[in-house]
Amino acid sequence: MVGDLGGERPPRYAALAGRVRRLVAEGRVPLGSRLPAERELAAALGLSRATVTAAYARLREDGWAVARQGSGTFAALPAGPDRGGWVPAPADGDVLDLAHAAPLGSPLVPVAFERALAELPRHLPGHGYHPAGLPDLRARIAERYTARGLPTTAEEVLVTAGSLHAVSIAFQLLLRRGSRLLVEQPTYPNALQAGLAAGARVVPAGLAPEDPAAGLAAAEEALAAVRPPVAYLMPDFQNPTGVLRGVAERERLAAALRRAGTTAVVDETLVDLGLDATPPPPLAAFGPGHVSVGTLSKSAWGGLRIGWLRADAALVRRLTAVAVRTTLSQPVLEQLAACAVLDELDVSLVGHRRVLRERRDVLVDELRRRLPAWSVPLPAGGLVLWCRLPSARSRALVAAAEPLGLRLAAGPLFGTGHALDDRLRLPWSQPPDVLRRAVELLVAADAAVGGGAPVAGPEEFRALPAGV
Ligand SMILES: Cc1ncc(COP(=O)(O)O)c(C=O)c1O
Repeated sequence: MVGDLGGERPPRYAALAGRVRRLVAEGRVPLGSRLPAERELAAALGLSRATVTAAYARLREDGWAVARQGSGTFAALPAGPDRGGWVPAPADGDVLDLAHAAPLGSPLVPVAFERALAELPRHLPGHGYHPAGLPDLRARIAERYTARGLPTTAEEVLVTAGSLHAVSIAFQLLLRRGSRLLVEQPTYPNALQAGLAAGARVVPAGLAPEDPAAGLAAAEEALAAVRPPVAYLMPDFQNPTGVLRGVAERERLAAALRRAGTTAVVDETLVDLGLDATPPPPLAAFGPGHVSVGTLSKSAWGGLRIGWLRADAALVRRLTAVAVRTTLSQPVLEQLAACAVLDELDVSLVGHRRVLRERRDVLVDELRRRLPAWSVPLPAGGLVLWCRLPSARSRALVAAAEPLGLRLAAGPLFGTGHALDDRLRLPWSQPPDVLRRAVELLVAADAAVGGGAPVAGPEEFRALPAGV
């Protein structure tokens, strides 16, 4: 079943692990069945025992196998996104990484740090702790909200270590163990994790990008039926679908939230990346009491680790009290650099968007040309394509792509449970030649997993209706 590993990229153990993973993902090795003993498999494949031991160790680490003391190693499924975290993989020069949706660092960043270093001595006579953020940075962030149509003062801003930190702080304050949390399905996996870690019971509202109106109706219905205390929403180039909510949709959402008594945690991580459209004012401008979340990660650089949340001043004080339970303050130097980045951001975004638009178009054209059976959308902004595959085989595709040197994130990662295996998220943040090469490898991986024919797989891999 494993076949000849001669044509695979070394190391051998990784190639063997990849083959076994694919067999499990495709259902050809049933879940729970015992894998051959290491010695037997080594002899059958003409490999060293150490190679098979290392391959089994990799499978166990990744959740595709479990060891049972004294009885062997058994095929398993990795934990779904409701049980496991999404940890960015380390950069690996040999691997094309289409799992992460993160742009490369802006040239603005080193210049900003030079300015920050020059300003640092001015701050040294103070103790350096600013629990809600450096006043200058809070003021600049507030100005941006005001310019977007949501009048904001510095007291209504809390500086955080990125937007995920901000989401997590908001969830810690607003959720209790057992509280309902409405999320879009699909959604951003780490926010889902943050909600679960805060004890939430997740209520998914299906968001089919092909029919955004139906997604809006699903959110309205779920809000009315469940009246959750908190909803996590991304109206600005939703990750992963790219859906942008217009003014009328924001009005409807805000009205539904108000009727349900729900506080929205509105993740605006991708708001600066409008490629063919400019987002309307923030959702929080359409109804009071919501928490807006932002970051410089996608607009300048993820390595900067500066984000924020925006809410009314009393709520910001309570959110700050939660933040200081774990971190007393964000670093002064990074905050000074963030001030310098924000001063130049609008100019730099013009070029950033132009580059991203070109990359999006390359990826879309290549995919439509080389994989015509896939349904490839053209989102108006953000960083990712949410492709529909001809059958439920996203996990199998991920497993088939890895030994070819292409790292992908499978559709189910973005859902609750194991739904969405007929979807694949592909970011366009890499340069065009990398994207072209990645599509070539995708074509090979797609052919390896069935190239258009439905893949027979265990129940867990079939797409469940959105909302399950
Ligand atoms: C929707 C969304 N929210 C939050 C984050 C986390 O961003 P940060 O680096 O600011 O924590 C990401 C990163 O990919 C994201 O896509």
